[in-house]
Amino acid sequence: MGYETSMDVFEAMETCRAMRHLKPDPVAEESIRKVVHAATRASNPGNSQGWEFVVLRDTEAKSRIGEALREVMHPIIEGMAADDSSASGRRMYAGVKHLMDGFEAVPVYIFVCGHVVYPPQNPLKELVPAALYPASQNLIVAARALGLGTTFTTFHMMVEPVVREVLGLPDELELGVMIAMGWPDRPFGLVKRKPVDEVLHWDRW
Ligand SMILES: Cc1cc2nc3c(=O)[nH]c(=O)nc-3n(C[C@H](O)[C@H](O)[C@H](O)COP(=O)(O)O)c2cc1C
Repeated sequence: MGYETSMDVFEAMETCRAMRHLKPDPVAEESIRKVVHAATRASNPGNSQGWEFVVLRDTEAKSRIGEALREVMHPIIEGMAADDSSASGRRMYAGVKHLMDGFEAVPVYIFVCGHVVYPPQNPLKELVPAALYPASQNLIVAARALGLGTTFTTFHMMVEPVVREVLGLPDELELGVMIAMGWPDRPFGLVKRKPVDEVLHWDRW
């Protein structure tokens, strides 16, 4: 599979911030395929590859999820924002609110779902995220390399029954991450993380 992007993978990871301000412009199906392809290259338990990707673009369906989400999440986000007086916290909660309020305007959501398939002798629900999270991280880094903004979310789990019904998910499929994706409406800044030397230990603690 050919990739036109020439962005270095380290640069993509360094600038792969949660992009909660996205333009409503459509994203080409080819780009969606590319990022899902990248997701399916991820490491996963025993190469069981139990993942499934549901791409949501339909406005009415988005609306049903968006409305349910706003109803449940608004008071929670307002409470969290009130408890966090830091400038970065205020910015983050304003971003989360922006994403929820404009839920329907985001061009694409990718729901990363998983079958309970590992280990084969005794499949455990608890191990489904072990496949879905590396795949989702691959997806957001690939999207960044293509110039697309993403936000990795789990807040949709607050309205899981609505999401399941709208997407028609079978009961046996676990619902994992939801990734909002579109063309960025803000610049990609550097991620702010602890310095590596604060968390890196050589040979022993
Ligand atoms: C497992 C996981 C769940 C997350 N859930 C949400 C979420 O529900 N809503 C949201 O807006 N961001 C969510 N995020 C994004 C994080 O809040 C974000 O990556 C973090 O605050 C660091 O910010 P940055 O990526 O912009 O540097 C989630 C990220 C991860 C890895």
